[in-house]
Amino acid sequence: MECLDESFKRGEPVASLAPMQDVTTLPFMRLLAETLQSAPDYFVTEFLRVHSTSIIDEDIADCLEHAPAGIPLFLQLIGEDIPALQRIARQALSRFDIAGIDLNLGCPAPKVFKKNVGGGLLRDLTQVAKILPALREVCSEFGKKFTVKCRIGFDDASPFPHLLELVRENGVDLLAVHGRTVRGLYRSPVDYDAIALAVKASACPVVANGEIASVEKALRVREATSCAGWMIGRHAIRNPWIFRSLREVREGRKTVFAPRLADVFEYIRALEKCVALPGDQPERVAARMKKFLNFIGTGIDPEGAFLYAVRRAETPAEILKIAEQFLLAGTRAEALFPAEPFPGIIARPNCEA
Ligand SMILES: Cc1cc2nc3c(=O)[nH]c(=O)nc-3n(C[C@H](O)[C@H](O)[C@H](O)COP(=O)(O)O)c2cc1C
Repeated sequence: MECLDESFKRGEPVASLAPMQDVTTLPFMRLLAETLQSAPDYFVTEFLRVHSTSIIDEDIADCLEHAPAGIPLFLQLIGEDIPALQRIARQALSRFDIAGIDLNLGCPAPKVFKKNVGGGLLRDLTQVAKILPALREVCSEFGKKFTVKCRIGFDDASPFPHLLELVRENGVDLLAVHGRTVRGLYRSPVDYDAIALAVKASACPVVANGEIASVEKALRVREATSCAGWMIGRHAIRNPWIFRSLREVREGRKTVFAPRLADVFEYIRALEKCVALPGDQPERVAARMKKFLNFIGTGIDPEGAFLYAVRRAETPAEILKIAEQFLLAGTRAEALFPAEPFPGIIARPNCEA
């Protein structure tokens, strides 16, 4: 965590991988940090649903224990039951060497927000006002960070100034703002002015989240909001080298890594191993690969032909054959992977959080 504090002190922007269910798993963290040499500055786990009887499940525990060394890792919790949140936070902080706890105040999935957790809590700031000090207290007991990831409101952004006051009053260490309301799901325009407001109103560093699609876009958003960095989700699935490129920009390198289609092919090949679980049938592995390919495919061809073909593939071997045609045939391997997705090529909404 010291490395993050140092970056914030020096005013250097940090880039984190956004928490994503079934994506920010231990194998994907390793793929980024080790195989692709494109580690973000910190990781946040996919959310752990917390209620009176919940436990830290095996996958999350494995991730907390074995995540790539040297990169701060936060466990994200989602819930509204204060004793349960404190219990799980205490367990995690006493058992694992992690940077801290992150609270989810943004998940827009109806099955989640209807239970008044995640984004649902943005309709009930009185409960948020109780949860924040409770988690702050536990994190402080262990000398660890307490971070929050939020959207800017439920139906509209009217609760946002009050939420920012609560974040400030409760000594939150780092705030990630996804500049959409819960109703805005994943497609409404991102309100970067609201992120700029959060930066002004907060005592802690604020990272901007939502459609940070490229290095250029990241720099524009920083210019517009004065954010302390970025949290990148779907665009890091499409272009996992974005963390390496942003690091190189930060280091002031003259040439910054730009992936070629051959790199994208190797990434897709590595994904097969990344998502496969022991005993999986090829169809199951292919289905998991498609979760990633859905986003990668938005940058492969302007007509969406790659995505069309891949969605019909049933096995990893078929997927790799299609990838070979689109990414390696003729002189394609050397072509640059576009920095941003092609307009109009839509990843199928498959978002759980
Ligand atoms: C498949 C998927 C799963 C997600 N799961 C989580 C999650 O567990 N916790 C969370 O805070 N946000 C979750 N999100 C939201 C992302 O962290 C992020 O806020 C959102 O995708 C906007 O950022 P982007 O435009 O960079 O993707 C998820 C998003 C996607 C696409």
